[in-house]
Amino acid sequence: MSVEAIRAALATVIDPEIRRPVTELDMIGDVVLEAGTAHVDLRLTIVGCPAADRIEADVRTAVASVAGVDAVEVEVGVMTPSERQALVERLRGRRTMAFGPDSLTRILAITSGKGGVGKSTLTANLAVALAADGLKVGLVDADVHGYSIPGILGVDDVPTRVGDLMMPPSAHGVLVVSIGMLVEGNRAVSWRGPMLHRTLQQFLTDVWWGDLDVLLVDMPPGTGDVAISLGQLLPHAEVIVVTTPQRAAADVAERSAEVARQTGQRVAGVVENMAGLAQADGTVLELFGSGGGAEAAARLDVPLLSSVPLSMALREDGDAGTPVVVAHPQDPAAMAIAALAQRLRGGLGLAGRSLPFTTR
Ligand SMILES: Nc1ncnc2c1ncn2[C@@H]1O[C@H](COP(=O)(O)OP(=O)(O)OP(=O)(O)O)[C@@H](O)[C@H]1O
Ligand SMILES: [Mg+2]
Repeated sequence: MSVEAIRAALATVIDPEIRRPVTELDMIGDVVLEAGTAHVDLRLTIVGCPAADRIEADVRTAVASVAGVDAVEVEVGVMTPSERQALVERLRGRRTMAFGPDSLTRILAITSGKGGVGKSTLTANLAVALAADGLKVGLVDADVHGYSIPGILGVDDVPTRVGDLMMPPSAHGVLVVSIGMLVEGNRAVSWRGPMLHRTLQQFLTDVWWGDLDVLLVDMPPGTGDVAISLGQLLPHAEVIVVTTPQRAAADVAERSAEVARQTGQRVAGVVENMAGLAQADGTVLELFGSGGGAEAAARLDVPLLSSVPLSMALREDGDAGTPVVVAHPQDPAAMAIAALAQRLRGGLGLAGRSLPFTTR
């Protein structure tokens, strides 16, 4: 039994944050096999790396599984600053222009004119539904003033820094960054345009996303600085406009689509949220009226991609930090969102564009 077999086993150990084999990340130093005992040098990227215990345990399990290994000794160390810098540069190299025009990652920005129409709730659930379907999904919470994604996804973790890269935490299979992870407690953020722009830019360039199939961007309400910045940073992003069935909301929704179009972004379609809720007696409660989604879609000349009903479960599960598509997949709103994910994945209604979603 050879050191090669041990190294092959180590190649199956994936760093949970960088999501590459530890062998590829130069985290494995010397490997020696002496009288049935394997000695492995493990070099973590940073001191106090939160994933350290898991990596060490995975290394032990992998090495112990090799025939002829009776005992495993792991020497845990930390990379030198120059080793770490070399790793960061390699990761950066792989990821140059991650979201540039040639990128295979499809970018969907979820916008609305009005606040409180359910953008963040829909974005979080859509992301989880797409990830459950096997896609690699990232989510940027671009609502710097009113960030809510960490709460809806129930993620308390903060990004891990490796050099000047940020490793995003993952929640329900979705990689997610939010300004909410970087400010302490529930502090309000009061930044003006340039700072917002820089933050958004950092989320796109200094976060290690790996190769994503789709990146969702949860936008703040309205047509302010962030919408304009996003248009500049990601001119090839597609926009999904969320509106309630209310006519007045549909008008405002159209304006956010216009801003997107002015910056060259394509409007992929409209999603109507808070549509009629079926009652036990067979009637439908139309709290916000009806028809706003179809009307906005018609006026923008794009498809109405989905109509998501009002749902107690959707709201409660969002408040509890477990998205409804996970907690109550049979809920009508959850089913509508899952169908929306399928539709986006299949490219229906996204006329004339070859979809970079990979099938696997
Ligand atoms: N279909 C729905 N049924 C019931 N409640 C919903 C529905 N969609 C969203 N909500 C609730 O409405 C509230 C607003 O939703 P959310 O925060 O997602 O909206 P938003 O458009 O992101 O708001 P903001 O503009 O402030 O960012 C939340 O309490 C959410 O749980
Ligand atoms: Mg929101």
